[in-house]
Amino acid sequence: MKILITGGAGYIGSTIASALEDRGHTPVILDSLVRGRIEFTRGRIFYQNDIADRAALERIFAEHPDIYACIHCAAYAIVPESTENPYIYYRENVGKSVELFDILRGLGCQRIVFSSSASIYDDVENFEVREDSPLNPRSPYARTKYMIEMVLRDFCAAYGLRGIALRYFNPIGADPQMRSGIHAENPSHVLGKLVDVALGKLPYFTVTGTEYTTRDGTGIRDYIHVWDLARAHVMAVEDFEGAFERAGNPADNYLVINLGSGRGVTVRELVAAFERVYGRPVPQKDMPPRPGDVAGAYANADVAERLLGWRAELPIEQGIADALEWGRRRLEILDFSRKPAGD
Ligand SMILES: NC(=O)c1ccc[n+]([C@@H]2O[C@H](COP(=O)([O-])OP(=O)(O)OC[C@H]3O[C@@H](n4cnc5c(N)ncnc54)[C@H](O)[C@@H]3O)[C@@H](O)[C@H]2O)c1
Repeated sequence: MKILITGGAGYIGSTIASALEDRGHTPVILDSLVRGRIEFTRGRIFYQNDIADRAALERIFAEHPDIYACIHCAAYAIVPESTENPYIYYRENVGKSVELFDILRGLGCQRIVFSSSASIYDDVENFEVREDSPLNPRSPYARTKYMIEMVLRDFCAAYGLRGIALRYFNPIGADPQMRSGIHAENPSHVLGKLVDVALGKLPYFTVTGTEYTTRDGTGIRDYIHVWDLARAHVMAVEDFEGAFERAGNPADNYLVINLGSGRGVTVRELVAAFERVYGRPVPQKDMPPRPGDVAGAYANADVAERLLGWRAELPIEQGIADALEWGRRRLEILDFSRKPAGD
């Protein structure tokens, strides 16, 4: 089947494209390259356009009338940047998603899978969150994800679209075949920083927050291999209608599904796993939490298993090993003298 992927030149969208191809499907990439990498689009059907460009989407659907569904990954996705410049985040993520959904509706594309985020959940006592756990998005970025979920749900209820919001926990690793991985030059997330310490780009690793009520006081997360994440999207589009049937065909035509491993891992446990895979100790320093840091959460992933037949399979060690390998190899694949298109 042919699947439109917005943001398909990014870290996750390009990995989904590979997972689709490996199953014999054809991804159609729509990406403005504002943040993504042209290298990830090579050999693929690719449109360098904005997601809110109606004429471009009309052309895409005229040239590919057999597109079965849209996986909407395109977004600005850096939390501190969203705090500094919320206007861009609300415009690019919320405003343009509203336009995209309306354009897709007009073009008869009825099935939408949306990249949502576990960052919209509130803290819960035992750190395990289900899809119906309380929400409390605490950054402009997280609020854009929450708002887009609401827009999609209302569109589905009103216009007969069908939407699946996939709430990602903490994606790590790279395509195990090294076709794609993290492309930010200076990754801001925890595993990216560990890799940078291992590659000698940073002198030490900073543990931010050591007095949470977790088992060792450091933040807890649910690390999910990006390949497992990509496979979940393939399963969602391959049996889109089946997922709705198993959910009892809800009247609002909308599903929410957590994508996590179901296992909470603290920062200290992640560092220990990293040292095991890397084979050497990592210099580290404890620091107080940064503004906006939270204790964290891990997924209850039962709904994904019931509706999609999906479960995370790859252990955290493989995510670490693939991230390290990608860190070593990515300069062979990515040309950093060529910058993304920018804002
Ligand atoms: N990486 C994570 O930790 C994480 C966690 C939860 C959710 N998500 C979500 O997953 C999705 C993909 O994230 P990623 O890590 O691959 O980010 P990324 O920056 O690598 O990819 C996003 C892509 O979207 C493109 N894009 C942005 N705005 C666009 C626009 N208006 N028109 C066309 N293209 C546009 C960018 O050029 C880029 O290629 C995002 O929606 C993000 O919010 C990511």
